Amino acid sequence: MLVAPLRLLPLLVLLSLPPRLVGAGRPLGRLGPGLAAPLPDLTDVDDPDGSRQAAIAAAAAAGQACRTVAFTAAKANYRRRKAGDRGTQVVFDRVVTSVGGGWDSARSLFRCSCPGLYFFTFHALSPSQGRARVDLMLNSSRVLSSEANYGGFDSGSNSALLRLGRGDIVFLWLAEGFLYENDARFRGYNSLSGYKIN
Ligand SMILES: *[C@@H]1O[C@H](CO)[C@@H](O)[C@H](O)[C@H]1NC(C)=O
Repeated sequence: MLVAPLRLLPLLVLLSLPPRLVGAGRPLGRLGPGLAAPLPDLTDVDDPDGSRQAAIAAAAAAGQACRTVAFTAAKANYRRRKAGDRGTQVVFDRVVTSVGGGWDSARSLFRCSCPGLYFFTFHALSPSQGRARVDLMLNSSRVLSSEANYGGFDSGSNSALLRLGRGDIVFLWLAEGFLYENDARFRGYNSLSGYKIN
């Protein structure tokens, strides 16, 4: 996500300077205290050994490496379809898509290693005689909820844009009721998807 901005940084620095400061070699003494020296070549500012450029290149490469982060997990595990008194984490049996890391299938949670803006969406199906309230969790906090109510199979869903930092985890929590799944292969009525936007 930072590739373009980082590449543009020298240009942005240049453009953000007052016009009269731009122009190597111009004496700046009259412009303010401490500005007696000519403006140095902007590409060399504070970077005598090129380490700043190298750091920017490395950050850009890292950004490139995690530019695409996306996953879809589906099919709620049968042991985690009943909230009981305390609720339970929703555990998914299937990984439909997992790109760029992040989806931890063993723990059924998304762990952010590329900070940025993410979109998450989920679907939950309640059994014909039950209800399901599912919460989207960020670490130990509820972000928002879905409700699927009594009276026939009912589905609930919700979505959120989340700004995530490194180490943040996102998962689903069945807070009340039950989830329905059909155990036939390739079905998956409950799902969680997420992807990095920026
Ligand atoms: C979430 O937990 C991780 C791991 O403990 C931590 O690094 C991160 O700062 C937490 N994020 C929030 C938003 O609390």
